[in-house]
Formats: sequence, structure tokens, C-alpha cells
Amino acid sequence: MKVLITAGPTKEPIDPVRYLTNRSSGKMGYALAAAAAKRGHSVLLISGPTALEIPEGVDYMPIESASEMYQAVASQIGRHELAIFAAAVADYTPFKIAEQKLKKADEEMTITLKRTKDILGSAREVMGFEGTLVGFAAETEDHLENAREKCLKKGCDLIITNDVSRSDIGFDSSENEVTLVYPDHSETLPQDSKEHLAFHLIEIIEEL
Ligand code: PMT
Repeated sequence: MKVLITAGPTKEPIDPVRYLTNRSSGKMGYALAAAAAKRGHSVLLISGPTALEIPEGVDYMPIESASEMYQAVASQIGRHELAIFAAAVADYTPFKIAEQKLKKADEEMTITLKRTKDILGSAREVMGFEGTLVGFAAETEDHLENAREKCLKKGCDLIITNDVSRSDIGFDSSENEVTLVYPDHSETLPQDSKEHLAFHLIEIIEEL
């Protein structure tokens, strides 16, 4: 199968030396890419900046910002049968990127942000993707309700939700515990290393 996977954080520039980002290490998405490649799939990994090595046998497209990730996914998704969105994409980006480094002035400073495009939410309606669509949900409360809402609203076959308020799983840890949320039911998998979990997840997704 031809599989597109997004991973890592995005970096939203404020001025030439500063940016907004998040705690995603890329480990979950890279583990999924490695597992999918080992199971014989042809994998394209579209990733924000991470410190990780590109998994063997995986095609790699680096991006920095949410808008670059949108463009990369929009240009590639039509060639794939399965898309898994594990990236932590910024929901907001600075309204204006300052051309020069911002100077210190007042005690307080306000940066105006604007919404980024929802890449997962555009996959079906805007990009016309008809393959299997798997999203992630990074939640701190009402996990199941929020994940099911995302699943239905964005036309996903599956949403994989994780509790990002815990420090032993989720962002930047080597383990994860996820709940699989389908349009009509859900199932929680035991906590495991992201590598083991990724193999299991790819097997489950293959069945979809
Ligand atoms: O990278 P690690 O350190 O290993 O951490 C893994 C992880 C916690 C980042 C990963 O397991 C995870 O939960 N990824 C999704 C993070 C996220 O941004 O979740 P969300 O609930 O805000 O977004 C929902 C879905 O929409 C996600 O599939 C996301 O990729 C996608 N999205 C979000 C915003 C946006 N503008 N475009 C998107 O496509």
C-alpha cells in the first residue's frame, strides 16, 4: 500500500530569529513510518523539524510551518491509499512575520495570530482524498467525546487519541497509550513503547 504519514511539530515564524512551536518530538509518527516500511508498504513521511533519523526505506519530505505541511500534503495525498496524520500542526500562526528582529520596547507585547488551515479536515472535502484516513487527537479532557467529534467531522475512518496531559506518554516520551476511536465504537490499547505500538497500529489500520 502507498502510505502518507505526517509527523513532528511545525514552526511558525514570528521574526527572523523567533518562532512558535510545540513539544512534539516526532517519535510517534517516525515509529509508524518505520513500522509501515518494515511491513512492506511504500511510505512518504512529511515531517516538521525533529532530531530523529529518517527511518530506513522511507521517502522523506521536510517542512517547517503548518502552511508548508498543508502544501506538501495537498500535492502528495492523491498518490496514496492510506494517510495517517500524527503531526502536531499549529492551529494558529503569527498574522504577520516581522522582516527584522523585533526590538524590546514596552513591558507587554501582543502578537496577533490567525488560524492555520486544518490539513486533516481538508483531506476529504478540499483535497478529494478517498483512501483510508487516520487522524490523531491530542486531548487533555473529554478524550472520547472530542475524538469522536473529530472523527465524524473530518471524515476519518479512525482517530487515535492520546492523553497529552500525562508526562509518561504522548508528547516527547518513548511510550504511548492510545484509544482507537471509530465512528461507532472505541477500544483502548495498553501502554507500550511507541515502536511496538506502531507495529500494532499498522496491523490494525491494514484491516481497515
Ligand atoms: O511526536 P511525539 O513526541 O511522539 O508525540 C506524539 C503526538 C502526541 C504528537 C501524537 O501522538 C499526536 O497526538 N499527534 C496529533 C497532535 C495534534 O495536533 O492533535 P490535535 O488534536 O490538535 O489535531 C487533530 C488532528 O488534526 C491530528 O491528526 C493533527 O495532525 C491534525 N491537524 C491539526 C491541526 C491542523 N492545522 N491540521 C491538521 O491536520
